[in-house]
Amino acid sequence: MSTNSNEEYLLEVKDLHTSFFTESGEVKAVNGVSFTLKPGEVMGIVGESGSGKSVTAYSIMQILADTGRIVGGQVLYRGQDLAQFDRKQMAGFRGKCCSIIFQDPMTSLNPVFTVGSQIMEAIRLHTKKTKEEAKVRAAEMLELVGVNEPERRLKQYPHELSGGMRQRVMIAMALACEPDILIADEPTTALDVTIQAQILELMQDLQKRLGMAIIMVTHDLGVIADMCDKIVVMYGGSICERGTADDIFYHAKHEYTKGLLRSIPNVNNSKERLIPISGTPINLLNMPKGCAFCSRCDKAMKICLEQKPEELSMSDTHKASCWMNVKEMLEKQAGGAQA
Ligand SMILES: Nc1ncnc2c1ncn2[C@@H]1O[C@H](COP(=O)(O)OP(=O)(O)OP(=O)(O)O)[C@@H](O)[C@H]1O
Ligand SMILES: [Mg+2]
Repeated sequence: MSTNSNEEYLLEVKDLHTSFFTESGEVKAVNGVSFTLKPGEVMGIVGESGSGKSVTAYSIMQILADTGRIVGGQVLYRGQDLAQFDRKQMAGFRGKCCSIIFQDPMTSLNPVFTVGSQIMEAIRLHTKKTKEEAKVRAAEMLELVGVNEPERRLKQYPHELSGGMRQRVMIAMALACEPDILIADEPTTALDVTIQAQILELMQDLQKRLGMAIIMVTHDLGVIADMCDKIVVMYGGSICERGTADDIFYHAKHEYTKGLLRSIPNVNNSKERLIPISGTPINLLNMPKGCAFCSRCDKAMKICLEQKPEELSMSDTHKASCWMNVKEMLEKQAGGAQA
C-alpha cells in the first residue's frame, strides 16, 4: 500500500468533501475539511446542529448512509489512504485503530442482546481471545469505566440500565480493543449535567491512562474547553476557525465563533440571558458563492457575498477564515508602510 503522507500523524483529513444524493438534490454536508491528529492528542469539533460534525466523523469511519459519498479529498491513517483499504482492512480499522461512540447509546446498543454479549463480540471481532478470556476482559472494561457489579451487569439487557450506565457501556465497548483514536460524537448530550461531568472526567482519565487520541464532537464549546489540545469550529460543513482553547475562547477571530461563545450558558449566573446566533443555518442544497456565514453576520462586507475567504494564520496554532481578518491585516500593512 502506498505511503504518501506524514506518518507522524495518526490521522490526516485532507480537503474532505462529503455529499448526500437525495431526491431534492446534492446535500453538500462536508465542504473541504482538513485537519491532523497526532498520537494522544485531544481535538474538539464544535458547531451548531447541522454543521457537519457527525458526517465528518462518519466519513472517517466510512459508515455513511447509502445515499452518502465522499466526493473529494482523503482520509489517511498513519499515512495510508483509507479509500485503498479493502473490506477486511476497513473492518480492522474500525474498532482496532479507531472507535466511535455514537450520539444516542440506545440506538447503537442492540436491545435483544445482553450488555456482556455485545462487549464480548466487539472484543472477539478484533482479538484472538477465547470466549472465557473475552468475558474477563469485558468485566475489566466495565470496571474501568466505573460500572459497579460488572459481573452482574454483563448479564443485563440495555433497557435495564440507566442512560449514564448505557453510555459507560458504549465507552467500554469502544475502548475494548484499545484503539489509537476514539471519536466521541456528543457522548453526553442525552445525559443530565452531573452524569455529563462524570463521563467527561472518565474520558479524560482514560485518555491519560491509555494514551489514545480523542476527537470530541459537541455543539457546546463550554463542555470541551478544559480537555482539548485544539479545537476546530465548523459552520456549513467547513472549518471556519481553529486553534487552542485559549485562541478560541479569548481571541476568537470569526464572527460565528464569537456568536457561539455568547451562547454558552454561564453556570454561575443562571439568570443571564443566552444570546443565540440570529438567522437560520445555510441551505446545504444551495451553497452560497461567498462566505457561508455571511447572511447571519453583522459585520458582512460586499466581498463576503462574492468570494469564499481563505484560511488566514493568526499564529502557529490559530487560523480563521473571515474577510474581516484580511481587511485588518491589509490596514495594518498600509499603516506600517505610511509610518
Ligand atoms: N442521510 C442523510 N441524507 C441527507 N442529508 C443528510 C444525511 N445525514 C446528514 N445529512 C445532512 O448533513 C448535514 C450535516 O449533518 P450532521 O449530522 O453532520 O450535523 P451535526 O453537526 O452532527 O449536527 P448535530 O449537532 O445535530 O448532531 C445536515 O444538514 C444534515 O441534514
Ligand atoms: Mg451530530
